[in-house]
Amino acid sequence: MHVTRLELADFRSYGSVEIELRPGPVAFVGANGQGKTNLVEAIDYLATLDSHRVSSDTPLVRAGAERAIVRAQLQREDRSALLELEITPGRSNRARVNGNPLPRVRDLVGIARTVLFSPEDLALVKGDPSDRRRFLDHLVVMRTPRFAGVKADYDRVLKQRNTLLKTAGRRSNVEISTLDIWDENLARTGGQLVAARLALLDALAPHATDAYRDVAAGAAAERQVVSLVYKPSVEGVEELRDPDDIAKALLDEIGRRRREELERGISLVGPHRDDVLLGIGDLPAKGYASHGESWSLALALRLAAFALLREDGDDPILILDDVFAELDSDRRSRLAARVAGAEQVLVTAAVEGDVPTELVGQSFDVAGAVVTPRD
Ligand SMILES: Nc1ncnc2c1ncn2[C@@H]1O[C@H](COP(=O)(O)OP(=O)(O)OP(=O)(O)O)[C@@H](O)[C@H]1O
Ligand SMILES: [Mg+2]
Repeated sequence: MHVTRLELADFRSYGSVEIELRPGPVAFVGANGQGKTNLVEAIDYLATLDSHRVSSDTPLVRAGAERAIVRAQLQREDRSALLELEITPGRSNRARVNGNPLPRVRDLVGIARTVLFSPEDLALVKGDPSDRRRFLDHLVVMRTPRFAGVKADYDRVLKQRNTLLKTAGRRSNVEISTLDIWDENLARTGGQLVAARLALLDALAPHATDAYRDVAAGAAAERQVVSLVYKPSVEGVEELRDPDDIAKALLDEIGRRRREELERGISLVGPHRDDVLLGIGDLPAKGYASHGESWSLALALRLAAFALLREDGDDPILILDDVFAELDSDRRSRLAARVAGAEQVLVTAAVEGDVPTELVGQSFDVAGAVVTPRD
């Protein structure tokens, strides 16, 4: 798929902008702070309803404005769709497809599919478990949009259960019996989420090794195996695959740890406590891999995500935000070669020289939130 037209109103630094995009490589070039990332962030947000830079909506809306609008014409094979999103901080956002309002804004997720590479990706390897969980859940939802609902249900159950644990620890048995219901809800939705993550990791792992060998320089890298091992909060769950079996294992463990949970007032069992252990060869990446190896692994994970979505039948839109400046020339050209054949690749760079020759195509100058096509 690819975007043929992007329109923003009061999004980030943009008052209003309209650009026509072609398939193939598209570069946005301009000095720091001119609005390059803002452009690609808008497209990624339309696809995922999530930003790689912020967790709240407020910074997405131009300072002083009430709401932002992102509108994109999406082309998928011979079909075209107009996606529209209205972002109003503090109120619920609204989405439309071809002019028709969607009942829930989250139904928009996954209609446009993106894979975004950014300097923040290093956190996939070096950062907290939450960074890796976010990566997994994002990809699960991109591939199977109904999981946006499962994830939302899980988050809601977790929040309400935590509230109950905080009060029930100090109060009556009545509330402890309501806790049983929340235990089951948590285990059921958690079981579905964990099963989806495990299936994803199974599918992703071979692509990650393949991409790592391509991107990391040197003969040693070409023999390395990248491992992605799920580290659940309940030992043994990583061996299971059936959501009901996983739910049962979660529920058993919740039963065993009830006293501890009541004492601490938080949920200690479930996918919100899980992690993925990344390894290169026999060693864990975190704490062992060099800076360059960590970068290669982070890129490999994104490339694996791209390969997987491509396998589902359609290229996602690739977004490479400021990544080439971070890489040495060898990795730069290896990465560029790997993505050059994608249906559409959006690249941001502070200077034109940072755009690899493989990715020279349509290009825009970005200065002071004004976007000007070069040709
Ligand atoms: N909600 C907002 N309202 C107004 N301006 C904003 C808002 N959010 C961000 N900006 C401005 O947008 C600019 C940053 O834009 P962006 O991140 O797209 O820059 P960039 O071109 O990618 O720069 P770099 O090369 O440094 O990555 C900053 O000047 C910031 O102040
Ligand atoms: Mg930027």
